[in-house]
Amino acid sequence: MDYRHRPAKNIERLFIVDMARRLTVAFPGDYQYIGFGAFEFIDFQLVHRALSIDRMFSIERDPIERAEFNKPFRSIKIVAADSGDAIRDGLIELDRPTILWFDYTDKLNHSILADAVEVARNVPAPSFVIFTFNGQPRMSSPMDDGGRVIADRRVEAMKQDIGEERLPSDLTDEDLSARGFARIQKRVFDSEFLGALVARHDSPSWFQVLNLQYRDGALMQTIGGFCLPAGTKGADIRRMLRGLDFFRAGDDFVDLRVPVITPRERMRLDQKLPRRVPNPPTLPGVVEDDITAYREVYRYLHFAGLQSAVETTWTD
Ligand SMILES: C[S@@+](CC[C@H](N)C(=O)[O-])C[C@H]1O[C@@H](n2cnc3c(N)ncnc32)[C@H](O)[C@@H]1O
Repeated sequence: MDYRHRPAKNIERLFIVDMARRLTVAFPGDYQYIGFGAFEFIDFQLVHRALSIDRMFSIERDPIERAEFNKPFRSIKIVAADSGDAIRDGLIELDRPTILWFDYTDKLNHSILADAVEVARNVPAPSFVIFTFNGQPRMSSPMDDGGRVIADRRVEAMKQDIGEERLPSDLTDEDLSARGFARIQKRVFDSEFLGALVARHDSPSWFQVLNLQYRDGALMQTIGGFCLPAGTKGADIRRMLRGLDFFRAGDDFVDLRVPVITPRERMRLDQKLPRRVPNPPTLPGVVEDDITAYREVYRYLHFAGLQSAVETTWTD
């Protein structure tokens, strides 16, 4: 498997496993994993081996012959359905502690929001819920000769995708540029998911633990959290996740970026890490942002199977 093509996604999987491990230690149980394994099952491989979970369901809406052929463990059940139907029709059962990762490639849309509501209504406590979707802003709107926007193309598209009633009435195309698009998507997702969760009779506690953006090609965003028994305290969660520097409970996100660093540069940096402020390492001609980004990911590059300096040289 060639991990070089998607270094950020590989690191994302490791973040998820690190968090899941803390959860399953603090809240032991008979966990299952529900995800979209595609036909590579990279997340399933990791969860099975790192967390010893073998009750696994992979939901797939595309034809499943290739997935059936490639599934790495007999205990993986492939559910041939759209994710929403899989939950609504009871093809997967949320009857035990669950790690659920719905790893879409689409931007936030009506059907992802419907899934979010369905999951929020049914997911048991304790569980770890993770949603990934595309956070790449659309192309900017056409302008007239004076530089004025002719039609708010981004706003219009977003209204189509998720419904005008869910969006702020004063939203502009400018708000949906750069990281603004992902910020608005998160706001809509949170409101829908939490709205369904708070309506439950068993009043579970929700703790967002992941808020991540990364780019192997398009910008992707991931939001994850723990659904825990009523009354679980925030201080206990913070203690449980102590030392995980990618833990994010609010709107500030981890900007996961794997910089292009040559083998020689990587060897030099590795000798000096970890070194935090006030004296971060420097390299001739390499911008500080790249060194900062490298410092944040270098441990995970190793665990992602990118062990030698040569292996970690890539371009987008
Ligand atoms: C991004 S891949 C999953 C990658 C995997 N999580 C990993 O870590 O390597 C998404 C897969 O889920 C399928 N998929 C996407 N949206 C889906 C949906 N709403 N219902 C069912 N399958 C879906 C796609 O066909 C594709 O095979």
